[in-house]
Amino acid sequence: QQTTLHTPYDDSAWNQLQHEVSLCRACGLCETRTQTVFGVGNRHAGWMLIGEAPGQNEDLQGEPFVGKAGQLLNEMLRAIGLAREEVFIANVLKCRPPANRDPQAEEVAACRDFLRRQIALLQPKIILAVGRIAAQNLLNTQQPLAKLRGRQHRLENIPLVVVHHPAYLLRALTEKAKAWDDLQFALSVYQ
Ligand code: URA
Repeated sequence: QQTTLHTPYDDSAWNQLQHEVSLCRACGLCETRTQTVFGVGNRHAGWMLIGEAPGQNEDLQGEPFVGKAGQLLNEMLRAIGLAREEVFIANVLKCRPPANRDPQAEEVAACRDFLRRQIALLQPKIILAVGRIAAQNLLNTQQPLAKLRGRQHRLENIPLVVVHHPAYLLRALTEKAKAWDDLQFALSVYQ
């Protein structure tokens, strides 16, 4: 007798989701993308990172955070003792907005259910919202990042902590210390 279990380890639901994302034509970004960027990493990770949207490198390679910002993100993870392979990394949008413009509300709405299903299947212990745009969209707020960082939020009943985007840190190196503080805070929430 077979039962269908939708547990965090349900590979058929995960594969189905991946397939649906790859075929998605729910918003205009499907016209300009090279490919969808589903997310990468450990399917059983305790940490889930959610960025904004694929950029040019990600669109070409089909993997999130593979450019310069991605290298700094890997460093940020190492600072709290995590390897990139140990976490799961996704974005609010699965497709690249043309010229990396900000995601539009209808694009975020069209993509929201994919992310919700990823979170439901992964059941991470903590979500890191990477950067202002991801944080504002995930938390449905217009508050500036300065107001959102340093405290614990919840998304789908999972603790969520906001960190500066590595692309921002590459431009504003003096802010790096704050990002490291935020990561330490996230670590304390995780434990
Ligand atoms: N910036 C993001 O927010 N996500 C990526 O995947 C790459 C850059």
